Amino acid sequence: MLYDNHGRPITYLRLSVTDRCNLRCVYCMPAHGIDVMPKDEILSFEEMERLLHLVCAMGITKVRITGGEPFVRRDLIKFLWRIHHLPKELHITTNGLWSAQYVPELKAMGIKGVNLSLDTLDRERFQRITRRNELHKVMQTFYALLNAEIPIKLNAVVMNGMNDVDIVPLAELTKDYPIDVRFIEEMPFNGEGISEPVLIWDYKKILSVLNSHYPDLQKLDDAPHSTSMEYKIPGYKGTVGVIAAFSRTFCGTCNRIRVTASGMLKTCLYDDGVLNIKTLMRSGASDNDLQTALLEAFNNRPKNGFEAETRRQNFAPVSESMSTIGG
Ligand code: 5AD
Ligand code: SF4
Repeated sequence: MLYDNHGRPITYLRLSVTDRCNLRCVYCMPAHGIDVMPKDEILSFEEMERLLHLVCAMGITKVRITGGEPFVRRDLIKFLWRIHHLPKELHITTNGLWSAQYVPELKAMGIKGVNLSLDTLDRERFQRITRRNELHKVMQTFYALLNAEIPIKLNAVVMNGMNDVDIVPLAELTKDYPIDVRFIEEMPFNGEGISEPVLIWDYKKILSVLNSHYPDLQKLDDAPHSTSMEYKIPGYKGTVGVIAAFSRTFCGTCNRIRVTASGMLKTCLYDDGVLNIKTLMRSGASDNDLQTALLEAFNNRPKNGFEAETRRQNFAPVSESMSTIGG
């Protein structure tokens, strides 16, 4: 097992396979999008496969494929077929736009779960948030996943005046469907930086809406290393969760690392990249060299997201787009 310098096990890798996306969510990027990397700056699938072999041998048991939108990358499904057996658990995060057609293959390869980004069930608000009028495609993917009995986590970023009215309708999905609907605090990863001086919809406020609408809301035990606080509405099939992504209440048990599509290792969501894996690989590093460099980074992890922020180059505040990080 891998441990960091604070004694936290590291078992979970989030690998972004592209920084491109077919949506333009307001909390993730400006309307004109972000400057995407040229193709040769992105790790090739061969490089990603090599990295996965290595880290799974070192102790990573769970891998989540993220983006941008992963299905925007050509031949993603072929890549998934090559790597699905490497970790014990393979998961994927998608916005669902182009994913419905791949659901049977995801099922066949034994994917453990799909996180679907969906911030509203209302067509107009969907258009306002994602700047695209494609809610129906996301819903197709949602129903395809349900039919295939692939576990679904539905992620909704809560934004003041934008989709706060969707908290209850989204939570109501758990009445009939055995899914986990998670409400996420908005973070300043939007390609521009912080938009409001204080976060209005923090986890306490989200919880207060749930508690007042569902007075008998039950607290569930949270899975170890989980970032969400889980609840159940009695009699409902699914669960609801709240993720204090900005308040950062969960760093003490953080078991995850990230690799961006361009091959930067992040040992915290809030750091600005601590090891350039691509440069190492392309300069001929052996597996042993890579392992040594990775271990060194794991032994120098900030203890939480606040410390990670203070270590950023020139103390630059967070302003990257989540599409370069993968959530
Ligand atoms: N704040 C919080 N969550 C975000 N996501 C993307 N950008 C942000 C942000 N600024 C979430 C999306 C998606 C996941 C990959 O990251 O909901 O589900
Ligand atoms: Fe695309 Fe996800 Fe960013 Fe939305 S949040 S623009 S779906 S990467």
